[in-house]
Amino acid sequence: MKHVDIKDVMAEAKYLQQDVTICGWVRTSRDSKNMAFLELNDGTSFKHIQIVVNKAEFAEADALADCMKLGSALCVTGTVVPSAVNKEGGVEINAKEMELLGECPPEYPLQKKRHTLEYLRTMPHIRLRSNTFNAVFHVRSTLAAAIHEYFQSNGYVYINTPLITGSDAEGAGEVFQVTTHAFGDQANYKSEEEYYADDFFGKKAGLSVSGQLEGEMAAMAFGKIYTFGPSFRAENSNTQRHVAEFWHVEPEIAFAELPDVLEVAEDMVKHIVGAVLERCPTEMEFFDKRIENGLLDKLDNVVSNSFEVLDYTKAIDILLKADADFKFPVEWGIDLQTEHERYLTEQVCKKPVFVINYPKDIKAFYMKQNDDGKTVAASDLLVPGVGEIIGGSEREANYDKLVAAMKARGMDMAPYADYLDLRKYGSVPHGGYGLGFERMVMYCTGMQNIRDVILFPRTVGNIR
Ligand code: 4AD
Repeated sequence: MKHVDIKDVMAEAKYLQQDVTICGWVRTSRDSKNMAFLELNDGTSFKHIQIVVNKAEFAEADALADCMKLGSALCVTGTVVPSAVNKEGGVEINAKEMELLGECPPEYPLQKKRHTLEYLRTMPHIRLRSNTFNAVFHVRSTLAAAIHEYFQSNGYVYINTPLITGSDAEGAGEVFQVTTHAFGDQANYKSEEEYYADDFFGKKAGLSVSGQLEGEMAAMAFGKIYTFGPSFRAENSNTQRHVAEFWHVEPEIAFAELPDVLEVAEDMVKHIVGAVLERCPTEMEFFDKRIENGLLDKLDNVVSNSFEVLDYTKAIDILLKADADFKFPVEWGIDLQTEHERYLTEQVCKKPVFVINYPKDIKAFYMKQNDDGKTVAASDLLVPGVGEIIGGSEREANYDKLVAAMKARGMDMAPYADYLDLRKYGSVPHGGYGLGFERMVMYCTGMQNIRDVILFPRTVGNIR
């Protein structure tokens, strides 16, 4: 259909005093004796555009009544004029023709009043039409573009790692099984081995929790790579920060040690936050006002100040001395809980902080073993409000040390033969990290629940 995006009509002076055709859905409507006013949104802009209707010019009053119903889809042709109420360069449209593209009955769930996010979660297909979700998904899209921009302009090769995997990748989380066996099939097999041998891939398969291991293989060829795709975790964590299917950004860098990895992570975060501040001013103003007061100041500080780096052992010291009532007791060796992460980043550092050098027993087998024999060169980036958004490390590049770490964990070596080859053939220091994309969207928008920054959240007991 020939029409102009509402965003362009509102932004470009060339449309002023011209006739245009726009399409959109009715977001508000108001009727008076001679005039009717509609606000239309086509999704291209956060702001709606006002349509002014002189009723005398619209003979078919019934059709007008249908056009006024919230949620109706219209195609409107009219003249763009300066707005009578919004004097700051705003425009409205004096309607000449109006076509009802799709009617909308009064039971349309998004009526004028403000709905809670919990209520909106019950209708993921409709909530996208609300102001909040319009803003969230414009910011999400801008962040995604900025991530590609960052890596592409810094010489990284974008690769796509497999989503179906034959190994438990790295033990980062519980794996969803992929099978073509049907209910009851198990009874036909004598052993587990036989059962999987007869499955689609001839062995047990699952959905990947991370593209890292394949990413390392590509980095050993292309030097610098990144992935940006879904990862799956079957963890039973019903929290505000966990979903079973999330989008994962994983760069992997050859000839890099832990400080180099941190440098890239900080630089990338600053680039993408800067991009959102610059390109989504209206949406960010909305989040600052309605979702998290002080959000803009917080993000401005992220862009202009360096991040903190805190040794795990020092972090434990701080937590032990903290004047706080933690639910999970603190001692050296524990995995930091959300409450600990938030204390460190919100109360102590008041900005993003890399916690580095974690105890080896709570981290994955592939992390570079530090000389102290107790810790590994791992790092999590913690941010106020969300906690961990990035997990990364320098990888163990020494074949013997890697094999020893795997044996100590009782791992089956066979599925990792390819991975171990990397340490045989021209092994080099390398490292990388994983950014949870939804957590980054949460951080940039102030949204508190991960279910509200992804189209259709998959969580325990919930799939639609
Ligand atoms: O810390 P994680 O488990 O690290 C890895 O998967 C490494 N292989 C990354 C790497 O070094 N290439 O996960 C990385 C990030 C976390 O910091 C978090 O932001 C996000 O992925 N994440 C989740 N996001 C939403 N829901 C979940 N269930 C998540 N699990 C991890």
